[in-house]
Amino acid sequence: MTTNGTQTNTIVIFGASGDLTHRKLIPALYRLQVQGRLPGNFHVVGFARRPYTHEEFRALFDDAVNQTPDYTPETWADFISRLWYCRGDLGVRADYDALQGFLYDFEVGQSNRLFYLATSPDYYDEVLKNLSDSGLASEEDGWRRVIVEKPFGFDRGSAAALNHTIHSAFDEHQVYRIDHYLGKETVQNILYFRFANAIFEPLWNRNYIDHVQITVAEDVDVGHRAGYYDNAGVMRDMFQNHLLQLLSLVAMEPPNSFSAEVLRNEKVKVLSALRPMSISDTVRGQYAGYAATQGVAPNSQTATFAALKLYIDNWRWQDVPFYLRSGKALKRKTSEIVIQFRRPPHLFMNMTRGKTLDPNLLSLCIQPDEGIHLRFETKMPGAADIHPMDMDFHYSEGYAGQPLPEAYERLLLDAIQGDAALFTREDEIDLSWKLVDYILHGWESPSAPPLCIYEPGSWGPEEADVLLFQEGRGWRLGCGGHDE
Ligand code: BG6
Repeated sequence: MTTNGTQTNTIVIFGASGDLTHRKLIPALYRLQVQGRLPGNFHVVGFARRPYTHEEFRALFDDAVNQTPDYTPETWADFISRLWYCRGDLGVRADYDALQGFLYDFEVGQSNRLFYLATSPDYYDEVLKNLSDSGLASEEDGWRRVIVEKPFGFDRGSAAALNHTIHSAFDEHQVYRIDHYLGKETVQNILYFRFANAIFEPLWNRNYIDHVQITVAEDVDVGHRAGYYDNAGVMRDMFQNHLLQLLSLVAMEPPNSFSAEVLRNEKVKVLSALRPMSISDTVRGQYAGYAATQGVAPNSQTATFAALKLYIDNWRWQDVPFYLRSGKALKRKTSEIVIQFRRPPHLFMNMTRGKTLDPNLLSLCIQPDEGIHLRFETKMPGAADIHPMDMDFHYSEGYAGQPLPEAYERLLLDAIQGDAALFTREDEIDLSWKLVDYILHGWESPSAPPLCIYEPGSWGPEEADVLLFQEGRGWRLGCGGHDE
């Protein structure tokens, strides 16, 4: 390894002509550059099959980048002077040798390389093998890291096989498995909110919490991704990663440091404490019209919506239900975690409005109206009555003029800096698939709950409401309110 202090830091993007590179990766890297957060002597190399020149490749991103905050032609010109294109076929070993030669041409001193797998997962195996065989992954003259996009496997077995292939080229400490939810500011804030305040954590357990709800609702339908989605469905597309990550962050024990291993150990403890569930505690739905979408099998049984009830068998959470739901073509886009507290044990004051007391609710709004709401009861002025009120924090007001960074900005920077705390570890992936596989197999059994058709623009099938209603509960949204 060269130790004279000079360094070259390069990110090589496989699948550089794809949508992810266009919409997310290059705009995020450009923003980091504008903010002066990238290391010195930084280069971005796109690798794909199309015969672009460097100039043609750079021009692909003009429209995406000039939408970013603080865009100026000068900073973009500066960025593209470090943006290169290397034509190559993912399956051709000689093209990796050519890439190696291309990198050598501008690398000086210690040459650090971050490889980004932004291709279809079908190509992961060959890219990883070629990276290993060509010596590109070898850490002789600098660090090597790899970012792997989702979907990470198709089931538990294929995820294990993918991990095995990754480890034939990279050690686990070099591997960064992306879940973009972890890069969202409001998702990171779950831990800050829980552990940088002393007033909530004492209540954060079975003694005070009645149940927890996690909703990740999308108003869009599958759009042009039907080919991928019909094989994945909502369980693989959203639960295996985003929803189970949110669950882990809400339920985990306080870590004693913010280091990647400690944090991930705590998340793994949550996932490994999930109680074996009953398939009758699941609801699966498909929005009306889905099966007629181009690219979807005519009799498709793919769920575009699911709701689940889970329990975590540990000291903190014993018998506290966690209700999770997610779906496409729902009424509106919102990701929200609602903690419903237990009701007071005895009510001594008069209430004339003839209904039971509303429970206290704490709602962590991940998006789009990012913020936190706490609902509590108040005495109505001039009346012997009680009325719920909200204490609100909105990022847009509390941090006015400070737009929330894109998830990919944070995640790319962390990978460049070698911090894997916001990336998922092999064992987390394995445990998430264990649950998802169990549910998907259960849905194939004769006793499976039916696939319920729901209207686009609704909150999903009624059966999802019944899941809570039969236990005297209801879905909460709108930062504290019921589903509207
Ligand atoms: C992706 C899924 O991981 O997350 C998509 O593949 C989904 O189907 C998207 O639309 C939702 O992300 P966000 O950040 O818009 O909530």
